[in-house]
Amino acid sequence: MSFRLQPATPARPNRCQLFGPGSRPALFEKMAASAADVINLDLEDSVAPSDKDTARENVIKATHEVDWGNKYLSVRINGLDTPYWYRDVVDLLEKSSERLDQIMIPKVGCAADIYAVDALVTSIEAAKGRSKKISFEVIIESAAGIAHAEEIAASSPRLQAMSLGAADFAASMGMQTTGIGGTQDNYYMLQGGNQYWSDPWHWAQAKIVAAARTYGVLPVDGPFGDFSDDEGFRAQARRSAVLGMAGKWAIHPKQIALANEVFTPSEEQVTEAREILEAMETAKANGEGATVYKGRLVDIASIKQAEVIVKQFEMINS
Ligand code: COA
Ligand code: MG
Repeated sequence: MSFRLQPATPARPNRCQLFGPGSRPALFEKMAASAADVINLDLEDSVAPSDKDTARENVIKATHEVDWGNKYLSVRINGLDTPYWYRDVVDLLEKSSERLDQIMIPKVGCAADIYAVDALVTSIEAAKGRSKKISFEVIIESAAGIAHAEEIAASSPRLQAMSLGAADFAASMGMQTTGIGGTQDNYYMLQGGNQYWSDPWHWAQAKIVAAARTYGVLPVDGPFGDFSDDEGFRAQARRSAVLGMAGKWAIHPKQIALANEVFTPSEEQVTEAREILEAMETAKANGEGATVYKGRLVDIASIKQAEVIVKQFEMINS
């Protein structure tokens, strides 16, 4: 470990973030009753320009009137390149109840984007005497966003989570696809006459995980557009979990159970992790730094790997 220790990520489950348009208030109670850890009420791209004002009002009302239980409640504002975002921030901070936990900032391109929102939020919180400090999450969904992922991750102590937004990201990068997540037909290698599909989102995901984890921010995988494809969602989510992401968005209620399943360590994974910790305890008692578990090497680094799984499991079940 470097002299500068890696900060811990926020100790709350973030396995599934359920989205719903702010212009469909009929969905809000259903969202609150769902099994998602995080609720994202959307004012951005799922809301038509003509509905922006009503959606904002709906969302503010819902912070007062809907029982959100123990959900982490987040509202996605419009991007800083639009005429809507300042009104989103001002009205949310001035008029929403203290139940609001977080603001999600889309299409972030550099740390100064967060600085601008932070200045506005900080000022309104002070002016209104709000007692809860609003946290931020960001979406990396442009070439600039991914190029500056590290400075964005470091931009504000308010920042808790960083998602990859596959659709806007693909457009900004000029990727030849209309798919939102998942494998792409033309992204393959040829070996011995066989096609092997690779993952076009892998680099961006890994970069986000590294940037986010460096600064104690939760890395999150964004949307999987084809909500009729359960196995496709599972495969994408499993890859993200293996890479170190904490959770994934659901853009339809069907995807909530799938995300929770993948991002909750399984009983077998937890049992194995605990056995590795026990094996290392025995090794330590014998004055050894390394030992053998089920025919494979485990050493002091294995303790940290096993602890990731056990701690995640304990946090989810606490
Ligand atoms: N949250 C909670 N419940 C939802 C929901 C959501 N996001 N979307 C749909 N439902 C409910 C429906 O009301 C319906 O409930 P019912 O069985 O009580 O009637 C049930 O789930 C099945 O819905 P379905 O008919 O399959 O979906 P739809 O056609 O009403 O809506 C979408 C489909 C994709 C338009 C909708 O799910 C949606 O808007 N998703 C979020 C989009 C979004 O926020 N995008 C921005 C982030 S990328
Ligand atoms: Mg987007």
